[in-house]
Amino acid sequence: MEMNQGLIPRAFKIVPSLLSADFGRLAEEVLALEQAGADWIHLDVMDGNFVPNITFGPRAVEAVRSVTSLPLDTHLMVENPERHIKAFVSAGADLVSVHVEACPHLHRTLQTIRDLGASPGVVLNPSTPLNSLEYVLEEVDLVMIMTVNPGFGGQAFIKGMIPKVRALRKMMEERRCRAELEVDGGLHLGNVREVASAGATVFVSGSGILGTGDYAATIRSMREEISLAGLAGGWDAADRGSSAG
Ligand code: DX5
Ligand code: ZN
Repeated sequence: MEMNQGLIPRAFKIVPSLLSADFGRLAEEVLALEQAGADWIHLDVMDGNFVPNITFGPRAVEAVRSVTSLPLDTHLMVENPERHIKAFVSAGADLVSVHVEACPHLHRTLQTIRDLGASPGVVLNPSTPLNSLEYVLEEVDLVMIMTVNPGFGGQAFIKGMIPKVRALRKMMEERRCRAELEVDGGLHLGNVREVASAGATVFVSGSGILGTGDYAATIRSMREEISLAGLAGGWDAADRGSSAG
């Protein structure tokens, strides 16, 4: 199968999103997710402008940092993200991802994230074409494809994004890009296998994990589903953690 031959990076990561957590018990939820086998923790920062919803800022990231050593995957859904990067890195964010649509000076913003000591990621809304990545692919440790329109948890996965993930995997192989390919929005036990087959390496899931009773069982089953995509043997496990993880 074509997927097994190219330059395919490291192992799969399952990344619960705290957007679906009980905010009144945030520390307990983070610990439960860590014990359940989460690889990273995903933090959705929303400003009420770039997206209609408002969530939390650097103080909450700091609070999460104080209870876990897992990598914190910080997804900035804010206008002018460059104004806030330093605060999030200081709060303990390991990966900081910004939206193409929110960054007129995307290249500089990504370099700023790296200069501050975090791993830069770039995110594309469902309607944003892959060619917007053309001149920044070398700058990032992570590319994130939104498979819902950002703003809320629990939305339905947009099936039309599967060919986009597949095309991105191809583009990354052609460019010999070793960044993670992260997918965010509407992921659950029933579709992670297909998303893995399309070429994703990192699977964000909010309601698909936190909406279930047993986080550990769900994460374990997700790993099994992903391995059934038949790609596990083709991923270079020796590379695990070479960039952000
Ligand atoms: C959507 C956020 C996602 C969200 C995913 O705007 O970026 O990270 O938490 O939630 P689910 O998995 O429930 O779609
Ligand atoms: Zn997110």
